[in-house]
Amino acid sequence: MKILIKNIKQLAGIEDEPQLKLAGAQMKKLGCIENAWLALEDDKIAGFGRMDDWEGITDWTNLTIIDASDKVVLPCYCDSHTHLVYAGNRVGEFVDRINGLSYEQIFERGGGILNSAQKLRDASEDELVESALARLNEIMLQGTGAVEIKSGYGLSTESELKMLRVIQKLKTLSPLTIKATFLGAHAVPRELQGDKRKYIDLLINEMMPKIAAEKLADYCDVFCEQKYFTKEETIEILTAGKKHGMTPKVHAEQLSNFGGVLAGVEAGAISVDHLEFVEAKEIEALKNSKTMPTILPGAAFFLNLPFPPARQMIDAGLPVAVASDYNPGSSPSGNMNFLLSVCCVQYKMTPEEAINAATLNSAYAMDLSATHGSIAIGKQANVFITKEIPGYSFIPYSFGSNLVETVIIGGKVVTK
Ligand code: NIG
Ligand code: FE
Repeated sequence: MKILIKNIKQLAGIEDEPQLKLAGAQMKKLGCIENAWLALEDDKIAGFGRMDDWEGITDWTNLTIIDASDKVVLPCYCDSHTHLVYAGNRVGEFVDRINGLSYEQIFERGGGILNSAQKLRDASEDELVESALARLNEIMLQGTGAVEIKSGYGLSTESELKMLRVIQKLKTLSPLTIKATFLGAHAVPRELQGDKRKYIDLLINEMMPKIAAEKLADYCDVFCEQKYFTKEETIEILTAGKKHGMTPKVHAEQLSNFGGVLAGVEAGAISVDHLEFVEAKEIEALKNSKTMPTILPGAAFFLNLPFPPARQMIDAGLPVAVASDYNPGSSPSGNMNFLLSVCCVQYKMTPEEAINAATLNSAYAMDLSATHGSIAIGKQANVFITKEIPGYSFIPYSFGSNLVETVIIGGKVVTK
């Protein structure tokens, strides 16, 4: 199967010499060709260039030609942080927050993550697969081609395994590239409130060996926050996860400055995510680390949190990734187009920085940047074509619109 996309107004996100991530001033540059062509063969990117330097195609058999005049082509977004397997919704808590309760107060009343845990325990595997597939389809049509999905609404051995098996099933049912994360340390479950030690022992001694035996998770994540898990507990859990083959990630500095970034860097995390309460010492620690600082503008927007210091991190020479945090409590949307707008409008990132954050750098945060996140020969043929627009900056400019018209995943058009 071959696809030729021709007359592309802007082919953006190209790399002649592919990098695994972009940091600091490198993020300002988005490789771009005006009036371009792009050839896909089977599930890979086969070539690209300027229409003027058209090299021609020698084999026209089975070739599908798409005319992208006045349209922009980008690599599909990579979304390195979601909780999109969940049951029900939390619209009631949304209204409670409007009426004055805080996210923390809702949790203290037994809501929040514990509310979703109850709903998830009551749901069957089939119901969870069906609703998560619908969400995967939704984000795919918005331009996402690879996604990480966390457990963390089970909070018991049986239900955490159920969630991870659902994620494994999704890998076989969805065309998206999917990575799985074990987030048993999302909260202490209702039945063990007051006995966190017992729950941590359960995570380490019972859940992790089973998850490792079935190879259900690539990553291990911890919600490092007051009333959830301390810095020391985070390091303990991540260290145990590593022994079971799971790379660390951390929910860090979302509601307070609590040590999550430092724990993540110390444990060798691939990413530390949220970062609203990051200070100079965290920025310093992230320098010379392999950890990707990842911002989640959907959750910051929905919970009305302070802006993460994305601008300061980039100006300090760090890379920054952006992901959706798609989940029922703090970010009930996986729309990466909207997140680009928040990055540009509120965080003062340029469109180039925001797109690099949402593609290559987010791919890095799930060990996919060698194959995903940019347009380079031999990479996965995951690209989207916009409607007719003047250029890629029009995507963050047009907040709330879906300008994605055609999505190609693994060399196949999935929009029709
Ligand atoms: O990434 N911060 C912790 N976890 C999720 C929210 C989970 C929830 O409220 O259901 C987050 O924001
Ligand atoms: Fe999250």
